[in-house]
Amino acid sequence: MKKLTLAAVGALFMAVGSTAGAADIAAGHAAFQKYTCASCHGADAKTAIMPAYPILAGQHADYIAHALTAYKRGQAGAPASANVRKNPIMGAMAAQLSEADVENIAAWISTLPTPLSVHK
Ligand code: HEC
Repeated sequence: MKKLTLAAVGALFMAVGSTAGAADIAAGHAAFQKYTCASCHGADAKTAIMPAYPILAGQHADYIAHALTAYKRGQAGAPASANVRKNPIMGAMAAQLSEADVENIAAWISTLPTPLSVHK
């Protein structure tokens, strides 16, 4: 009985997860090009024009979505906090993105080959 309940709860989470994760990878790639993200971060999202610019390719989708949302909050005037990033460049870039753009771009970025790795 317990097992059955757990299985049912698991199935429910999977169903909810797939609705929330309905990001469109191809649309994310298109948005990355449309909003000229590639002009700084590189078409592959890892060959940036300046070495100080962060590598995005292969980063976790939830991290990228969180970062873009934090820039949007910063640009909208939210006071600095752990969930707000204030950056004149990225604030202006992120402010243009819809929530769907953020989710789609994050999904696309997470699929890319990457030099990022876990340091041991
Ligand atoms: C004019 C150059 C430029 C453009 C255009 C640009 N970025 Fe950035 N991006 C930067 C810089 C510089 C940073 C680092 C900012 C900081 O210190 O927070 C950054 C940071 C980021 C981060 C945070 C990465 C991390 O590891 O925390 C994300 C995500 C990101 N950019 C995505 C995008 C997306 C998506 C677009 C297009 C909508 C875009 N960028 C357009 C220069 C740019």
